[in-house]
Amino acid sequence: MQKIVILTGAGISAESGLGTFRAEGGLWAQHKIEDVATPEGFARNPKLVVDFYNARRAQATDAAPNAGHLALAKLESEFAGEVILITQNVDDLHEKAGSEKVMHMHGVLAGALCAMCDHRWPAPLVMAPGDRCPHCDQPSARPDIVWFGEMPYDMDEIFDHLASADIFASVGTSGNVYPAAGFVAEARRNGADTIEFNLEPSMVGGQFKDIRIGPATQTLPVWVDSLLAG
Ligand code: APR
Repeated sequence: MQKIVILTGAGISAESGLGTFRAEGGLWAQHKIEDVATPEGFARNPKLVVDFYNARRAQATDAAPNAGHLALAKLESEFAGEVILITQNVDDLHEKAGSEKVMHMHGVLAGALCAMCDHRWPAPLVMAPGDRCPHCDQPSARPDIVWFGEMPYDMDEIFDHLASADIFASVGTSGNVYPAAGFVAEARRNGADTIEFNLEPSMVGGQFKDIRIGPATQTLPVWVDSLLAG
């Protein structure tokens, strides 16, 4: 049975109106990573960090999935083989498009995490510093986002999937951030066919056997239809 492993990044949500990180005027042009996406930043100024994610959570709540998300959901539901979807994105547009198995390796805006007891619960639309954990009652709630310097989620399972992938596809990611940027090398090492979807080659674009340049809303539906045509 054929197995397709797909990694997505901010680029797949760009056409749904959610900002990417490293484009001109992107999120990392507006905010310093060390201020809003590190444990140190959160310890230094929890309100700045919580408000940064409150703004992104509100935006993601109002955003609609686009043809790229919908194509991947169609692939998962109609492909005869196995489809594994891994995303670096913390929005829920894959789920809104109908994807059922989504591995959020960088966490989710919709989740809250207790920094003391590791309990997880659905985040309120607006979080505040010192929100209490519903499990241990400590004032230690934080967004369930994996910050720089923290270990992404599901890495063992992800590497197991990369070891047995027949096709590895990467969509809308710049290849700047590891471990995700290293997935293509791992998939190739295990004999997978590799394909990148982006507006331009990513930092690891040269490692892909095939590259489809263009907006994901155009390139993904064409690719999915070709896979489903068998
Ligand atoms: N279709 C396809 N690709 C697109 C589109 C589009 N419509 N729009 C933008 N892109 C591509 C850009 O060319 C770029 O290569 O999406 C990529 C976005 O790159 P980044 O902004 O760096 O986002 P990403 O790669 O997901 O960042 C990875 O870095 O900051 C951390 O945790 C954060 O998960 C994030 C990680």
